[in-house]
Amino acid sequence: MQKIFETIKEVALEIDTLIVNEDTGYVDETNATGDQQLKLDIACDLLIEKAFRDNPEICALISEEKEEVMHCAGKGDYTLCYDPLDGSSIVDANLAVGSIFAIYDGEPSGKNLAGASYIVFGPRIEIVTVVRGEKPIRYRYINGAYQEFHPIVLEEKGRLNASGGSQKHWQDKHMAFIHGLFADGYRLRYSGGMVPDLHQILVKGGGLFSYPSTTDNPNGKLRVLFEVLPFALIFEAAGGEAIDEKGRPLLELTVTHPHARTPCFFGSRYEIAKLKEAYGVA
Ligand code: AHG
Ligand code: MN
Ligand code: MN
Repeated sequence: MQKIFETIKEVALEIDTLIVNEDTGYVDETNATGDQQLKLDIACDLLIEKAFRDNPEICALISEEKEEVMHCAGKGDYTLCYDPLDGSSIVDANLAVGSIFAIYDGEPSGKNLAGASYIVFGPRIEIVTVVRGEKPIRYRYINGAYQEFHPIVLEEKGRLNASGGSQKHWQDKHMAFIHGLFADGYRLRYSGGMVPDLHQILVKGGGLFSYPSTTDNPNGKLRVLFEVLPFALIFEAAGGEAIDEKGRPLLELTVTHPHARTPCFFGSRYEIAKLKEAYGVA
């Protein structure tokens, strides 16, 4: 798996160059989940495909931007699932964006998730990697090289609160819960990009990120294989928790479709306990 992480570090530099130089316009296509695609979504997808398709450890690629599973020549057991560019709708505003990777050993599902990583393209490039059973490691790209930081460890309770979906479409219990956190002193942090939003919670030691079911999107928005499960592994490995609306650990999810979605919550332990009370699943 370390070789896969090394390739992620290399491809991050190519994606960064693309983001800096490519225009941020749309193409006349939508992806498998109906999102309008940017030229950048497609170009990032192709860069990652090129970096991994001949990797002997990987037998298949599943991308947010590809309708179908792409089978590779490699005979290894890993399926690499990825979101090539997370934050397509905010890249034109020059906010931080990311890429997300999940490495499944065998059929993609929560229990087969063996490792995960994400890249943050902000003022600097940062990468977090995790191998199941180990602490997540944070790297920064400085002066032409990646520098390793301390492992990421969440505290019991944080101070940040980020919730997606239109408030107009939130369920009453979600609205009451979020108001309760603000009344308890939590600060709003939501950019519209899950990579920088979750990264901020991880590096500041805690808080909560929610993407709940809403009346317009009963399954939420975020996609299980390449958005939800990789962050679930990273939050659990950092000492936090990641659950669905029924209070089940997201890492127990099985997956019926490459582009399936689920409501999801990532946080430190205190906020997740509060959430379970508010949703009546404690
Ligand atoms: P993508 O750009 O890969 O389609 O993902 C965007 C996602 C995620 O990054 C973010 O948390 C969420 O969309 C924001 O959705 P809302 O605008 O509905 O809050
Ligand atoms: Mn995304
Ligand atoms: Mn994307």
